[in-house]
Amino acid sequence: MAEREAAGELTNLPTETRVWPIQNYLEYFQKSIRDIEAFWSQIGHELVWNRLWDQVLEWKPPFARWFVGGLVNASYNAVDRHMSTWRKNKAAYLWEGEAGDRRTVTYGELFREVNRFAAGLRKLGVKQGDRIALYMPMIPELPIAMLASSRIGAIFTVVFSGFSVGALASRIQDSEARVVVTADLGFRRGKSINLKEIVDEAVQTTPSVEHVVVFRRAGGEIPMRQGRDIWWQDLVKDASNFVAPEPLEANHPLYILYTSGTTGRPKGAVHSTGGYLTYVYATQKWVFDVKDEDVYWCTADIGWVTGHSYIVFGPLMHGVTSVMYEGVLDYPAPDHWWQIVERYGVTVLYTTPTAIRTLMKFGDELPRQHDLSSFRLLGTVGEPINPAAWEWYYRVIGQERCPIVDTWWQTETGGILISPAPNLGLPLLKPGSATYPLPGIDADVLNEAGATTAPGEKGYLVIRKPWPGMFMTLYKDPDRYRQVYWEKFPGLYYAGDYAVRDRDGYFWLLGRADEVLKVAGHRLGTIEIEDALVSHPAVAEAAVAGRPDTIKGEAIVAFVTLRQGHNSSSALVEALKQHVRKEIGPIATPEEIHFVSSLPKTRSGKIMRRVVKAVASNRDIGDITTLEDEASVEEVKQAFSEFKSA
Ligand code: WTA
Repeated sequence: MAEREAAGELTNLPTETRVWPIQNYLEYFQKSIRDIEAFWSQIGHELVWNRLWDQVLEWKPPFARWFVGGLVNASYNAVDRHMSTWRKNKAAYLWEGEAGDRRTVTYGELFREVNRFAAGLRKLGVKQGDRIALYMPMIPELPIAMLASSRIGAIFTVVFSGFSVGALASRIQDSEARVVVTADLGFRRGKSINLKEIVDEAVQTTPSVEHVVVFRRAGGEIPMRQGRDIWWQDLVKDASNFVAPEPLEANHPLYILYTSGTTGRPKGAVHSTGGYLTYVYATQKWVFDVKDEDVYWCTADIGWVTGHSYIVFGPLMHGVTSVMYEGVLDYPAPDHWWQIVERYGVTVLYTTPTAIRTLMKFGDELPRQHDLSSFRLLGTVGEPINPAAWEWYYRVIGQERCPIVDTWWQTETGGILISPAPNLGLPLLKPGSATYPLPGIDADVLNEAGATTAPGEKGYLVIRKPWPGMFMTLYKDPDRYRQVYWEKFPGLYYAGDYAVRDRDGYFWLLGRADEVLKVAGHRLGTIEIEDALVSHPAVAEAAVAGRPDTIKGEAIVAFVTLRQGHNSSSALVEALKQHVRKEIGPIATPEEIHFVSSLPKTRSGKIMRRVVKAVASNRDIGDITTLEDEASVEEVKQAFSEFKSA
């Protein structure tokens, strides 16, 4: 569905010519763009600094350094700053486990636990600049570990606990983490997952790891390697209740977050401290308009950037009360989310189009059986939202009272870039459009030649000027950073997304322009999945593409050629699916695997991805011949018909 819209069928583009009522916002926006340094400098002052910066921005394209010379600490801004206020005894997290267990963690408790864990990390020898990997379920100890790490200037990298051995190992290897923090158990649909076992297997190939810290959730015994492994609870037992937060230069990395791109190796996006915090602070306020009495619930997993920015740093800096939920949306019951909303009186919900479409499938009755009157604002992120899902969200969940903020952003951008901003004045909403760029964000849509597109014309989304939330580089790979993001349109940030602007200047985000898939909002590289398939002994070559899926946005379709001596069978299909689950994780499992005798290739031997994609999504040749490809149209046509009939 999203794909069809992305392919240019903008059936949802409105024809109406209503006037945008928030002139003030436009003026504020224009001013912010004219002088980004003055603008961000003012906002930077809302954080607590140990020392103010000497220079707002040092821009040596494509490398930006914000608040140069300023000294700041992330855990101080998220936690300590509330200790001298009434918020000390306010709930930071209302946590629910999948099994129904509950915990309330106040800001004061968070402060104590962060300090104790920071002291524990110090005991293990962790120093400023060291990397630590966090492979943890959605429990309060994950934000605690992130904050403790930032307190002492260690650089954390969170690895989504749904990733498997291969994905975990490659991230630890690349970051050369000294410590891995995990838990004995995670839960997924009533099944317990032995995370420590996965860590044990991964660290066999990661020589950098000196210690594994294990948070004990269950009572049972699990193997602990003497000298290397230590229980979290033992580590903090006699730990000090206070560790002074390390004042860090604003451009000291806060974290590395690996994300999928167009090569097999995940990219480590490196985020700064001062710029990142400033940006997340501002956008949390503009977009979610957070208030002290809110019960705010971002349903993301902290393993993704959405959780980093809008479960941990954004809400905590504002002293907001968040719901944090460990489980999936329809377990143990399809109305489990609505029970949670009712129980805590959730006022702001931030989730994905996939979740909305899944809930929509269960019908209107379930949400109607619950009191959802506490809602005042609803948000979505991660993939294009189709107007039908938007309208259902608005009508049935928001009961036609709550604005919807469709927020466009990426792991690389650190925070939301394009979205309605209720705190600054709400534009008229159009279902399926993320409306306008936020202040300070100079966004544009360009054609292949680099010229601004006309209204209604599809093009590539770019950002013209740096912003404080922008990632600083790719870890240990500045060349790739330059090449992937800054070369297509020299000097401009290339997001890798298609977009179109309508006559009112509204932005419509149309999905990826590259080989990145969004499956249920999760970002996966087709080449990553191909590499996993090819690492199976039966597979010679593989080509992966997404096909439109009415719930998940995209589903994974794989075409493989087999090595000699191997035959196609349904058992092999199962084995290959299992293999991908083991290498990457269940989210990367192909929906369909087709055995073919050859893959469509150009004369130079490159797989014709557009052909693979068209066949996977059962699309017509007409859709692909218009798009640029290194092969000629004739070549593409021929490859298409051969591949299709294979
Ligand atoms: C897509 C998630 C349409 C987009 C925060 C982007 C969206 C990718 C939207 C980044 C939206 C995110 N409308 N598409 N509101 N939000 N995307 O790094 O293709 O996991 O490039 O960050 O998600 O995914 P990532």
